[in-house]
Amino acid sequence: MSRVLVTGGAGFIGSHLVENLLAEGHSVLIVDDLSTGRRQQIPDHDRVEFVHLSVAKWLETHPSELFSEAYHLAAAVGVRKVVEDPFGTIINNVVETASLLQFLAASSTPTLLASTSEVYGVGQGRPFRETDDSVYGSTTVARWSYAHSKAVDEHLAFALEDELPSVVVRFFNTVGPRQRGEWGMVLPRFVQAALENSPIEVHGDGTQRRCFADVRDVVGSLPVLLRTPQSRGLPVNIGHDEPISILELAEMVRSVLQSSSPIKITPYDQAWGSGFQDLQERVPDLSRARELVQLQPSRSLSETIRDLADSIRMEAAL
Ligand SMILES: NC(=O)c1ccc[n+]([C@@H]2O[C@H](COP(=O)([O-])OP(=O)(O)OC[C@H]3O[C@@H](n4cnc5c(N)ncnc54)[C@H](O)[C@@H]3O)[C@@H](O)[C@H]2O)c1
Repeated sequence: MSRVLVTGGAGFIGSHLVENLLAEGHSVLIVDDLSTGRRQQIPDHDRVEFVHLSVAKWLETHPSELFSEAYHLAAAVGVRKVVEDPFGTIINNVVETASLLQFLAASSTPTLLASTSEVYGVGQGRPFRETDDSVYGSTTVARWSYAHSKAVDEHLAFALEDELPSVVVRFFNTVGPRQRGEWGMVLPRFVQAALENSPIEVHGDGTQRRCFADVRDVVGSLPVLLRTPQSRGLPVNIGHDEPISILELAEMVRSVLQSSSPIKITPYDQAWGSGFQDLQERVPDLSRARELVQLQPSRSLSETIRDLADSIRMEAAL
């Protein structure tokens, strides 16, 4: 039995990953400041230890423990959080990550770094391949601070490659039970609105297309990727590769949940402020991931919507 570090383990993807690692027999140390994560998402298990600190504060305690693996998921996440606090986003995602990676490099701990499809920026990839160039909007547009910060994280991991065995995972839209909409995540926002029969607010004109992968299909591939020597030093796209328009997604949510919600179109500048930029289509090329791991069979989007609705209902009942 080995001890694994999961930063951000009280969050959406992190909590599912922790369950997976426990099922494999590992013991897990979660470091999470609960800025967007929740204590009730941490499994109540004798092989889980939780440190309620930011990564930076935890490192200040001079931890001496060695870990068999580390998964760095802690980050400022969500468009709303990023546009409201671009400075904090950069400090969190870059400065704290740099310190953590240095700490893990000192013990050559195999490390998975969570990155994002946002690092492709407004690139023209159809679909996006890991070797594509990144093309970003202006630094005066706050939303790009997230993409830039994650791209710097990737550079940091690759720069430490001699000491730090690492893999960088570029998550495309990942959805499922426990995800929350308050920081702008589209599917939980739609599901919450549908459950309340209140307007489902589509930002932009709704023709933009995205691919949604169920978190439970995604997390199983993370430990496999980290333990596959061929993935070392590589960025790897992870997600689903069948796009759906955001308007179709809103209609699907309404129909699956038999909701009477109207669909309301809200222009980007009203939703996120003037100058907001978004991409018309974001689809991953998953060939590299498929060469490295067996991607798990996908749950249907309708099933994910139903399960997400159940988790929102359950939480409301608590
Ligand atoms: N969900 C997606 O679709 C998606 C897409 C692309 C990338 N990602 C990446 O995956 C990772 C997990 O995202 P998520 O969707 O689970 O979001 P989340 O907000 O649920 O998880 C992030 C967790 O990190 C914690 N955290 C934030 N800053 C911290 C810090 N400095 N120290 C300690 N804990 C801190 C939060 O409290 C939260 O529990 C992030 O790195 C994110 O950038 C997610």
